[in-house]
Amino acid sequence: MGSISKKLGVVVTGGASGLGLTMVEYFASQGHAVTIFDVNTQAGHQVAADLAKKHPEGKVDFKFCNITSWDSQATAFREVYEKVGHVDIVMANAGISEQGVSSLSLADEEEPSQPRLRALEVNLTGTIYTVKLAIHYLKKNTPDPKTGSRGCIICTASNAGLYPFPVAPVYAASKSGIIGLVRSLDRSLEKLQIQINALAPAVLETSITPSKALFEEMIITPHSTLVKGIAQLVEDPKVSGAVAEIHGENVTLRTHHEYVDDDTKANMETFWKHGIA
Ligand SMILES: NC(=O)c1ccc[n+]([C@@H]2O[C@H](COP(=O)([O-])OP(=O)(O)OC[C@H]3O[C@@H](n4cnc5c(N)ncnc54)[C@H](O)[C@@H]3O)[C@@H](O)[C@H]2O)c1
Repeated sequence: MGSISKKLGVVVTGGASGLGLTMVEYFASQGHAVTIFDVNTQAGHQVAADLAKKHPEGKVDFKFCNITSWDSQATAFREVYEKVGHVDIVMANAGISEQGVSSLSLADEEEPSQPRLRALEVNLTGTIYTVKLAIHYLKKNTPDPKTGSRGCIICTASNAGLYPFPVAPVYAASKSGIIGLVRSLDRSLEKLQIQINALAPAVLETSITPSKALFEEMIITPHSTLVKGIAQLVEDPKVSGAVAEIHGENVTLRTHHEYVDDDTKANMETFWKHGIA
């Protein structure tokens, strides 16, 4: 990465709306070939057509893709690779809220109802599929002669994956899961010269919440800070395994916790040495 002057192949899941849409516009404005993967066919086609007109320097395409389906994502990635010829940046961004009151809320029930886990399936399972496919295609790239990078993966987590988020514990678990995934994959991906990072946005106005009125009481982070964070991660291939909090006007990089003691660190190194757990 780093040398962003080359026309890059970019995939953005959930690119038809909200944060994903901002990502698509940013990469298109940089002259790259961007493909939106989204379940919203109508918005996806519309966004692709509008942005292609607005940013003729780039290319914007849409593919229907449900990230919770391995086959759907595998097909979409294969088609992008065949058409564009390379995949260089993957934004694993699609995600949903718990869509109303959490099914882990403590409401009285005669019999316990099975929790709804759709947020976990989309946000975590879908992202794991995206990351697996991203690695497969990024591995095919020749490392950039200047930076040594084959490309990068950026996963949209949330600050709800870092802080307690009592109203939506399943959502919080899915986002903590993404952070664990990113931090744990970094060391293996370093060998492949691929960077992986997570974004932990605060509150940005999008279509994610069922109640738009919620945003009126919130301190809103502008989409320009999201763009600043993405540019920082893409342009600096030395940063990997980090979580970038996107808050207010700021991008704050968080590395993992300090080890609690030397024994814990030593055991983690033993797992790594043996390559199994
Ligand atoms: N908006 C915020 O304040 C905020 C804060 C932190 C994290 N996030 C995260 O940002 C990401 C984007 O959310 P947003 O706020 O832009 O919401 P959004 O609803 O505006 O956009 C999400 C997009 O993802 C698509 N999508 C949903 N399920 C999908 C699936 N199974 N397969 C493919 N596409 C799917 C939707 O159609 C939509 O276009 C999510 O991961 C969300 O958790 C948002």
